[in-house]
Amino acid sequence: MADSLGAGDLGGTLATDVVVCCDNLSLLRGLPSGVCDLIYVDPPFGTGKRRKGSAKKSDAPVFDDRADGGLESYVAFLRPVIQQMHRVLSEQGSLYVHLDWRAGHYVKVLLDDIFGIDNFLNEIIWSYRTGGSSRRWFARKHDTLLLYAKRAGQHTFNVLRGGEFRTQGMNLDQQGRPYKNTRAGRLYFHPEGPALSDVWELPFLSTVSRERNGYPAQKPEALLERIIQASSNEGDLVADFFCGSGTALAVAKRLKRRYLGCDNNSAAVKIAARRLA
Ligand SMILES: C[S@@+](CC[C@H](N)C(=O)[O-])C[C@H]1O[C@@H](n2cnc3c(N)ncnc32)[C@H](O)[C@@H]1O
Repeated sequence: MADSLGAGDLGGTLATDVVVCCDNLSLLRGLPSGVCDLIYVDPPFGTGKRRKGSAKKSDAPVFDDRADGGLESYVAFLRPVIQQMHRVLSEQGSLYVHLDWRAGHYVKVLLDDIFGIDNFLNEIIWSYRTGGSSRRWFARKHDTLLLYAKRAGQHTFNVLRGGEFRTQGMNLDQQGRPYKNTRAGRLYFHPEGPALSDVWELPFLSTVSRERNGYPAQKPEALLERIIQASSNEGDLVADFFCGSGTALAVAKRLKRRYLGCDNNSAAVKIAARRLA
């Protein structure tokens, strides 16, 4: 199947393993209901800036992260997109919306309205060290990912583990394994570490990272690995309707999920299609 299409090429049917160059609303409105198992979106944050990729190249890809009209028009732009994403999610599906301090709280209210507050699962803090600091406020070192289920309780969720338990000073058994004494007997720690919490310490892509593809606002694959492993299974359909350079799609493909992506910037779609080829 072709990797890069225009919205019209889909003809209102569901083609998967494609990245489409079009406005996301026009694609979403043509999709059947309930077909996506996981949606991740990383929309423009409304920084008011023109974002440029690899700064040295004159033909570096660019996207406009302008927020003319302020927060009100930003929320008005996202509302119909979120309504459509809610419609196309399956009954087991989840949506992650990746934002930062600028609009996160406003979009949370919008998501509560569309998904219902009972379907809110997590506010994930992605913490990193890159970027500058300020003499006038605390350094801003995190993004926020809002996670909603189409129907909480029915949603796909695989517990992910990592890191270390704090076992210093604990009893050790004959094999040297730490344990806690409980009324029910000895409690051993999971060999793969504690279940991940909603605070994720993951490095931002450095300017010299081999993963860099030159697209502005590219996200690290390690972040998408967590999301896709936690909230989907092999064969599921993972969609990103603001796909940029296709990070979510590339990781979905590597993890044996089907994928569907779109972006209205042809430079982004070109990079994503190359990455997925
Ligand atoms: C922050 S970037 C996504 C970066 C991506 N996560 C990555 O790792 O490369 C946001 C993207 O949304 C796209 N975009 C903005 N408005 C859109 C719309 N109405 N329809 C489709 N794409 C849109 C922009 O062109 C931009 O590539």
